[in-house]
This record gives sequence, structure tokens and C-alpha cells, in this order.
Amino acid sequence: MCRPDHFEVSYAINPWMDISDPVDRDLALAQWDTLRATYERYGHHVEVIEGIPGLPDMVFAANGGVVIGDRALSARFANPERAAEGPAYHEWLDEQGFSQVQAAREINEGEGDFAVAGDRILAGTGFRTSRDAHREAEEFFELPVVSLDLIDERFYHLDTALMVLGDTIAYYPAAFSGESARVLAAMYPDAILVTEADAEVLGLNGVCDGYHVFLSDRATTLPGQLRERGYEPIGVDLSELLKSGGSVKCCTMEFHRSATESTALAG
Ligand code: ARG
Repeated sequence: MCRPDHFEVSYAINPWMDISDPVDRDLALAQWDTLRATYERYGHHVEVIEGIPGLPDMVFAANGGVVIGDRALSARFANPERAAEGPAYHEWLDEQGFSQVQAAREINEGEGDFAVAGDRILAGTGFRTSRDAHREAEEFFELPVVSLDLIDERFYHLDTALMVLGDTIAYYPAAFSGESARVLAAMYPDAILVTEADAEVLGLNGVCDGYHVFLSDRATTLPGQLRERGYEPIGVDLSELLKSGGSVKCCTMEFHRSATESTALAG
């Protein structure tokens, strides 16, 4: 995670960002501290990368790269405003002791567009991450990557439209092209389909640890849907980060276990 010490909305690269609507940075900091404390309360270890002045979106650590097992692929951002975050996250990932750290050649916004789902990766394209980046990730991680087309600019990253829940997913079908929605429906017949109202508050931008689901406290229907399936939703208020188009998942780069490690753990 990256503390929002330099967070602001000083440019607009997605429809959520309005430079005339100022953010309350102290409130953003307090909300972020609460998210971090919530992860820790539920037993999750948090590493923090230092923010850099002039890179207000660096708080959205999910975009810095993708980590699976001992491999890390650092990001290459689509917009010049965020370009310098790529090398910053690369350097940081390099210091974490992974055995392979590679800088993406193609436009790749990290876990914003790559969702690790067991032994496959679901990947979004259409607004940021390129289709070529999907192929690059497939080679680097040696895992199949399923490309999905995002078509609604409000849901410009895959993690705004889809959340992995262990063996299944939750998603907002209208954020995807007809063909991609059909692919998801066939692959996950038991998925949770999320309402537009919950998608619109970035309710899908959550993190699931297998049981707890950390998500925006503004989602109204999704918490009940999760409880019905045996998950425990934990609501968090990130109203200030929402002004930049981000929520819980955006603030979180997960270090995923590799599929082989999970198999080993499952015994
Ligand atoms: N303002 C940031 C951008 O538009 C928000 C990034 C949100 N991150 C995410 N993983 N969806 O790039």
C-alpha cells in the first residue's frame, strides 16, 4: 500500500475525476489508515511504499504491478501523468526479494487490470492495459490469461467491474462487451451478479482473502449477496479516494501465492 501523503485530483484521466471538486487530504489519510488497520486487524501483513510528490495517484498501489509467487511484473502506465510510477514501483518490487522482477514492455496497469483467479488470470483491456500486455503476462507468469473487453468508461479498470472470490467471482456484466460477458457467464455459472448501483459506488473494487471481503461501505446489495455465499463483508469508507475513481482494491497490491503453492498448501 502507499499512504496518500501526496494525494489530490489535479488532472482527470477517468470520468470519476473532477479537478474542480477538491479532495480533503486529511480525511483521505484517515480513511487510508483505517483500511490499513482493518487489514491488520484481520491478520494481513501490510508493506508500505513511500509516496512521491507529484504522483498523486501513487496511492493506487494495485496499479504498480502484478505479483504471483516469486515473480513480479511492474507496470507501464497508459497516461503520461502516471508514467513515473512504473519505475518507482519497479524499484520497490526489486527490493522485496522476488526471484524475478520484470518491467512490463506493454501498457500494463498491474492488478487494476489483472485479476489472479486460481491458476488463471482474468485480464481487462479497452481503456488502459493493452491486449499485448495480456500476452506478455501469460509468458511471464506461465499461466493462461483470459482477455476481457471493458466497454463502459466508468469501469475503466477490470478491478472496478469484477472481483475474485476464491473459486468464483462477482462482476457487473454491463461493464463488458457482449462476448466477454458470455465468456464470464460460461466460465463462472455461479458468479455473483452485481447491481448497477453497487458497481457505481465501486463496490466491486474489493479484496477477498478467501473469507473476508473488504469493500466500500457504500455497496448496499452486495454485502447480503456475499453473506448468502458464506463470505464476511467488511465495509470501509474511502469516500475521498472515490473522487479519483478508486476504492479498496485500487489501494491494494496483493502478493498472490502461485497456483502451485496453493495446491501444495491445499495438500
Ligand atoms: N485516478 C486513478 C487512475 O485513473 C485511479 C486508479 C484506480 N486504480 C484501480 N486499480 N482501479 O488511474
